Amino acid sequence: MKYFSLLSIIGVVFTAKVNAACWSERLGYRCCSFTNDVILEDSDGKWGVENNDWCGIQNNNSSNTCWSSSLGYPCCTNTNEVIYEDSDGKWGIENNNWCGIINNAARTTTTTRTTVTQSQSSAAATCANVPNKPSLIDVDSYNDPAKNCNISDSISGDSLAKVAPFRMGVGLNGGDKSTSTVNSKKMRELIAYQFNSVTYSNLMKAEHMLDKSASQTNAKNGNDMPVLKFDTIIDGLEFCKQNNIHMRGHTLVWHVQTPDWFFRTNFQDSGSYVNSSKMEQRMESYIKQVLQFVQCHYPGVVDVWDVVNEAVEIDNGSYDSSTGWNTRTRYNNSPNPWYQTMGPDYVIKAFRIARKYADKDVKLVYNDYNTFMSQKTNAICNLVKLLKAENLIDAVGLQSYLNADWPNRNDYKSAIQKFSSLGVDIQITELTIKTDGSGNKFNNQATHYQQVFKIYKDLKKSGVNITSVTVFGLQDGYLFYNSDSTDTRLWDHNLQKKPVYSAIINALKS
Ligand SMILES: *[C@@H]1O[C@H](CO)[C@@H](O)[C@H](O)[C@H]1NC(C)=O
Ligand SMILES: *[C@@H]1O[C@H](CO)[C@@H](O)[C@H](O)[C@H]1NC(C)=O
Ligand SMILES: *[C@@H]1O[C@H](CO)[C@@H](O)[C@H](O)[C@H]1NC(C)=O
Ligand SMILES: *[C@@H]1O[C@H](CO)[C@@H](O)[C@H](O)[C@H]1NC(C)=O
Ligand SMILES: *[C@@H]1O[C@H](CO)[C@@H](O)[C@H](O)[C@H]1NC(C)=O
Ligand SMILES: *[C@@H]1O[C@H](CO)[C@@H](O)[C@H](O)[C@H]1NC(C)=O
Repeated sequence: MKYFSLLSIIGVVFTAKVNAACWSERLGYRCCSFTNDVILEDSDGKWGVENNDWCGIQNNNSSNTCWSSSLGYPCCTNTNEVIYEDSDGKWGIENNNWCGIINNAARTTTTTRTTVTQSQSSAAATCANVPNKPSLIDVDSYNDPAKNCNISDSISGDSLAKVAPFRMGVGLNGGDKSTSTVNSKKMRELIAYQFNSVTYSNLMKAEHMLDKSASQTNAKNGNDMPVLKFDTIIDGLEFCKQNNIHMRGHTLVWHVQTPDWFFRTNFQDSGSYVNSSKMEQRMESYIKQVLQFVQCHYPGVVDVWDVVNEAVEIDNGSYDSSTGWNTRTRYNNSPNPWYQTMGPDYVIKAFRIARKYADKDVKLVYNDYNTFMSQKTNAICNLVKLLKAENLIDAVGLQSYLNADWPNRNDYKSAIQKFSSLGVDIQITELTIKTDGSGNKFNNQATHYQQVFKIYKDLKKSGVNITSVTVFGLQDGYLFYNSDSTDTRLWDHNLQKKPVYSAIINALKS
């Protein structure tokens, strides 16, 4: 609870000046409204980063002044919607935080400010029929496998999130609730310092969200819609809220890690597949329940969703070309159960349902691997055009599992440009670069990461709207697993920075 001082009214005096046009706007970037930190400088001027995008730093003081910054809140950069008004002025919400609206003079009313969560969840409809939060783990008493790691070097000095002109994300690993990254206090601390986005690599997938026995009981009682549970995602959501971090929702509709019984009569393993209209109802029920849970309890935290994952296939015999975008019919010699039950329309239907239930500012993404293989790039472009025609898609997600020498980085770059030219944002969702196996493998790996980040930076500067880059795990040899041989990450087994770390920082700063 925060009370207001009369002094803050002085802030209003500055508001008129803040609107002045600024040099970076003609280049397509906003002026910085609350930062003066110079991240990079070029012939255009000095650049800072705000809300994960570059902004131009004014060379005078007045334009940097925003009335709410003196109260510890940024000024709003892209909303004018007044959520709250008090003696300081008009307040909006951005990035799940209060921001001061700068083009409106304040009125004098005296009151206190409530928290963002309270005010947003007063939209009672959002929470109708939404289950309560399951209990959180007690992270203080959890046996942290990283407890002996000295992370002081990673929670001071450079921060990836601070220097990147897009959100910097990290995968939250873990095969079940007990091995989840957020169970470690040390990992939490490091992530909160270095990143401003996270993605669950597993724990938000349907196999963890669906409650089999409760769904079967539902069906016995004549309601064959699924029952969901939220125990595997609650700790990550809470961690994000407390640290002002966003979560990429991953993923609503995928043919893998979705139990087969979900597609069958009465949710029985032995049942036959339900028909298309029934499966569409189940899809709607599932998407609605997931979105409403996170939007009710954690408004603004999950503001981007991988709605459909990996629905495009280029292996002969495993796709339906009649759609014009090679709809996956099979994978690893198994049928794609979404295709089997709903046909190729399952993809567009999933996006329609997601748009229907998603909050206004939530971005919808199509996510896939090997997006740079030309046949796949073209097929995905065809899909994006269809979705875009109904305003159902905001971004393409490129998973980006790369090798030292594959794919050709020009192919990778031009695939990103092709997607971007369709008018969607770009998100790099699962970036992983393998080592080359040589004696100098970690230094070589650093070079490869640096080159790829340079591509992102150059593309961003050229107008490609890259809004996030996520590395898909925190450390090599993940400490929650007994023996993990991963060597693709930015931190090593002891949570020390690998050469990759400074290579990325250099690419972003240069
Ligand atoms: C601040 O500087 C910018 C140019 O850098 C100029 O356009 C603007 O008018 C200046 N604002 C004030 C209040 O002097
Ligand atoms: C802005 O003003 C403050 C004092 O009010 C001064 O210390 C600072 O150097 C000024 N910054 C610029 C960029 O002129
Ligand atoms: C942790 O590492 C820093 C150097 O990075 C060192 O100054 C500090 O003493 C170390 N702390 C412990 C407890 O070893
Ligand atoms: C689909 O199956 C449901 C029962 O699950 C049935 O009520 C409905 O009539 C079927 N629809 C079609 C088009 O066959
Ligand atoms: C698929 O089949 C076509 C001709 O039928 C062939 O040209 C192409 O190489 C095949 N692609 C793969 C990946 O096997
Ligand atoms: C870039 O993406 C962000 C987030 O979707 C959006 O707010 C912004 O308008 C986009 N910018 C451009 C130039 O398309």
